[in-house]
Amino acid sequence: MSGRDAFFEISNVSKVFNVKRRRGKGWLARTEKVPLRAVDKVDLSVRQGQTVAIVGESGSGKSTLANMMARVTLPTEGRITLEGEDLAAASGARLRTLRRRIQMVFQDPGSSLNPRQTVEDIIGLPLRLDGMRNRRERLARVKALLEAVHLPPDTVLRSPSSLSGGQKQRVNIARALALHPQVLLLDEPTSALDVSVQARILRLLVELREAHGLTYVIITHNLGVVRAIADSVVVMYLGQIVETGSVDDIMRRPRHPYTRTLIAAIPIVREQERALLPSTETIDGDAPSTLDRPAHCAFYSRCPMRVDTCRTKPAPPLQTGPHGIAVRCHRVDLAADVSAAPVLALAS
Ligand SMILES: Nc1ncnc2c1ncn2[C@@H]1O[C@H](COP(=O)(O)OP(=O)(O)OP(=O)(O)O)[C@@H](O)[C@H]1O
Ligand SMILES: [Mg+2]
Repeated sequence: MSGRDAFFEISNVSKVFNVKRRRGKGWLARTEKVPLRAVDKVDLSVRQGQTVAIVGESGSGKSTLANMMARVTLPTEGRITLEGEDLAAASGARLRTLRRRIQMVFQDPGSSLNPRQTVEDIIGLPLRLDGMRNRRERLARVKALLEAVHLPPDTVLRSPSSLSGGQKQRVNIARALALHPQVLLLDEPTSALDVSVQARILRLLVELREAHGLTYVIITHNLGVVRAIADSVVVMYLGQIVETGSVDDIMRRPRHPYTRTLIAAIPIVREQERALLPSTETIDGDAPSTLDRPAHCAFYSRCPMRVDTCRTKPAPPLQTGPHGIAVRCHRVDLAADVSAAPVLALAS
């Protein structure tokens, strides 16, 4: 997934937070600072116009990765480039331009909107900061943005508190589009919304992607969302990528046992697909703490496919195969995986 198509490149990126931890008990207890590897050596290549979904349970490092991709925080190690330009090296006017090209939309549509402002102020702010001083010109642009997200022009006068969750998220999306970004990083953009509203917001996102040639990186817990919008999937577990591939490939032929458990848990999986997944594949127990990552495979304690070598051997490396497939599991041999193509022939 690299080379000529390189657009948004994440190479060997890690983020380490120093967190306080209590050690010992009673009067012997003391706090110490320990490194927490929230994102661990992630490589990811996003092609222009593509939608990449990042999935994985809470604490797996999805938002930390997105924050680095939006240049909200800097990686501890590694490099992130957009069309060859290093995000960490940019400063001044170049950094402002880069930031404009990458916009974020968050989960809770209300919390990112100031309740004391009108929608005109909210969507107009990035335009004003970008130098659009003329209010009439700005208002016309705000109304055009509202139209793009299918909100009526008189929404400009309203305050966020008078809007529904779905309408608030449309305002967030309009604001993110104000300065013609190339990339939208969507961190759980629909998970705070009712199911019917979720579907409408997803349809809007697809429409905007086609209309503006946008590239999306979408974080979600919901594999139904992945199916609806994404081209490829990145599965994270405890800060590491454990599997990547096209949506079709991963949905039909998940290779990593963690991905298999995620897919077995989707309610909309068709019976034919479910029949092909071993019925024992449910996750038991909690993930190990990011602070206490074992030397062996981090999924070992919960893995339905584990064998002794998964505990006695060091953590497996990420094996890469054709078509952007990569898997981190001792039990999977991509080289022996002759066609590396989906095995399930599904009736549609
Ligand atoms: N600013 C921070 N300081 C210290 N630790 C942090 C910080 N931000 C995140 N972490 C830790 O990094 C790990 C990854 O967190 P992150 O928020 O990226 O996970 P996530 O996959 O987005 O989870 P969720 O699905 O709950 O949003 C967690 O262990 C979290 O506690
Ligand atoms: Mg998160």
